[in-house]
Amino acid sequence: MSHDNITTNAPAPNQPAVLDWQNQQPYSAEYQDVYFSTENGLLETEYVFLQGNDLRQRWQQPDLQSFTIIETGFGTGLNFLCTLKLWLATAPPQAILHFISTEKHPLTLHDISCALTLWPELSNYNTELLAQYSCLLDGKCIALYNHRVRLSLLIGDATEQLTQAQHRADAWFLDGFSPAKNPDMWQPALFEQMARLSHPATTLATFTSAGFVRRGLTVAGFLVKKRTGFGKKREMICGQYAGAKNDS
Ligand SMILES: C[S@@+](CC[C@H](N)C(=O)[O-])C[C@H]1O[C@@H](n2cnc3c(N)ncnc32)[C@H](O)[C@@H]1O
Repeated sequence: MSHDNITTNAPAPNQPAVLDWQNQQPYSAEYQDVYFSTENGLLETEYVFLQGNDLRQRWQQPDLQSFTIIETGFGTGLNFLCTLKLWLATAPPQAILHFISTEKHPLTLHDISCALTLWPELSNYNTELLAQYSCLLDGKCIALYNHRVRLSLLIGDATEQLTQAQHRADAWFLDGFSPAKNPDMWQPALFEQMARLSHPATTLATFTSAGFVRRGLTVAGFLVKKRTGFGKKREMICGQYAGAKNDS
């Protein structure tokens, strides 16, 4: 499937997101898409990204030292906060979570604060994030929960940012607006960067099951499988890096 003729109304890279609020939920004015499922964004994150990467089980190894997640599209930070909560509950205390997220249009502090009021069950975890959010926007890596968690935002287009990255991912959260609304992001060049930054135990999960995403990930070296989707979505994708043909 070619997207050569598809254009979006997206703002220039690195400009703050412009939100519409629909039924108190954030909605992207430019991409005309939701930030998370209107059925239940929090349960969607737990199902798609946490369970899709089998994180609870993988974090219960007593000798775990560190774990790196790379995400495309930080958005409201919901995925991050759900991950942080699970990490604190399941990972051994000496282990460090590195959460690295790319974001082309960061929310303003005001908008992210409003969006996160939707999740009272995460309010205990929001405080440290919001207190340091401006440092994140300045490109600084922030430490949370007594250095058990480190968070960095790579501000700009995901593919461009990952091309310069050297971090090795243990799991990918392939988020971003839907491939139909944001085709520019879901390109082979992104999947190639994901492969470059993966190792044989690296997993991925994404809410979409679009055929060209499945095929692109497969060509890049991921073993991809479909799984029942969240809510009204029939299917989603998860997978593991299988290695490029010329990997040693
Ligand atoms: C569906 S939202 C992500 C929701 C988010 N994970 C959360 O927990 O709220 C999609 C995000 O991807 C970002 N985005 C869109 N295109 C991008 C690109 N090419 N590179 C990086 N981020 C992008 C958008 O600005 C938006 O914040």
